[in-house]
Amino acid sequence: MSTYKIVTYGCQMNVHESEKIAGILRGMGMSESETDSADVVVFNTCCIRDNAERKAVGQIGRFKQLKKENPDAVIAVVGCMTQQDGAGLALRKKFPFVDIVLGTNNTEKIGEYIRDAVSARKKTVEIDDDPKPAIAEGYPYYRTSGVNAWINIMYGCNNFCTYCVVPYVRGRERSRTRDAILREFEQALADGYKEVTLLGQNVNSYGNDRADGYGFAELLTDLAKYGGDHRIRFMTSHPKDMDEKVIDIVASSPNICNNIHLPIQSGSDKILKLMNRHYTRDDYLRIIDRIREKMPDCGITTDLMVGFPYEEEEDFEDTLDIVRRVGYSNAFTFVYSPRRGTPAASMPQVPAEVSKRRIMRLIAEQNAVTRRLSREYVGGVYRVLCEDVVEKNGVVSVCGRTESGRMVTFGGDGSLVGTFCDVKINRAQSAALFGEKV
Ligand code: 5AD
Ligand code: SF4
Repeated sequence: MSTYKIVTYGCQMNVHESEKIAGILRGMGMSESETDSADVVVFNTCCIRDNAERKAVGQIGRFKQLKKENPDAVIAVVGCMTQQDGAGLALRKKFPFVDIVLGTNNTEKIGEYIRDAVSARKKTVEIDDDPKPAIAEGYPYYRTSGVNAWINIMYGCNNFCTYCVVPYVRGRERSRTRDAILREFEQALADGYKEVTLLGQNVNSYGNDRADGYGFAELLTDLAKYGGDHRIRFMTSHPKDMDEKVIDIVASSPNICNNIHLPIQSGSDKILKLMNRHYTRDDYLRIIDRIREKMPDCGITTDLMVGFPYEEEEDFEDTLDIVRRVGYSNAFTFVYSPRRGTPAASMPQVPAEVSKRRIMRLIAEQNAVTRRLSREYVGGVYRVLCEDVVEKNGVVSVCGRTESGRMVTFGGDGSLVGTFCDVKINRAQSAALFGEKV
């Protein structure tokens, strides 16, 4: 076994989990393959929406050919999709050439099962559905996200939003210990990472599964104490748990970015209730006011959904109204997709053409907001953490983010990656900002 390829679908949690899988495979002496023809291929799947699932299924199907050409190749499917009711066996049946299927609590064993597959052609399906498994610590991550290091602070979710499959496939909330997080944070800084993003399905409820009173605000307070030039971001925050203490510590800590991802999902109280979100639009707007009061330049982003069961035109108008009022620097917009086993899947569904019309209008509305906010950047000077080089028409530039999370492209070369630059913004095009180093 000398090369591996990991195909990742879904959120940052999965991207980060793939870094753990890469760490395990590299520990076995493998290196990453540039092409599809690797000795070990791992699909890290997502099932948050139907299209995520279909994409993964389509790609796995393609690898039947690889197995024909290289019968010794080992193919593994891991991640959220495997953890759905009956999915493990269904996957094995649909894709008999797959060697290993592991649930979200079993991923760490991938090395062991690859060895079994190689030495004895042994096939494995292992899906543990304990909703509160112990957190696996001590695995080496092979980080692949440039200047940014992802750090998981908690796993799972207790919220059971009625549309969402996450609590079923990722189990209940489990927080990592303060020590484990601080150690990983220190290591990331020692390794030269200039940005750390704390990850959790609902970072604001960090620590709620323990009785020691050490919560997210306390964790941020500890992390804010580390000196040096680096940035801290976190995601995702749930509006129902977003407290004043967290807003205060973000506002008062120079290293914690004024950038908050706060999914509202819908602007209609009727729909929020049906979604089991535990806040009203007024509650949400009050939090936004608090954030803006303490951090006028905070970049606020969100997730929005259209076509949730029972959504009428006036509910959708309430969502558009929120978009206009809040002024999100970016919004991830989704058409509701029924997920098996979730309460909303058995509610009356909104016709697809209605959802389609709504999502187009929503995107147009958000684009108008983005353009307006982008123009406000023009003429200003912003501190940018350079992330990567981009090449267009033979011209090399550098791109990176402002503290508020906006992407900026400006003249420069690879030597700037990983450094902070002051950049004057000259031009805005939709969400993209262009400028020059000053
Ligand atoms: N259909 C559409 N979007 C969904 N999301 C979660 N579940 C669904 C679903 N069933 C969206 C939510 C969430 C984001 C990660 O994905 O907006 O915040
Ligand atoms: Fe899903 Fe809701 Fe949990 Fe987010 S908070 S992961 S949307 S159940």
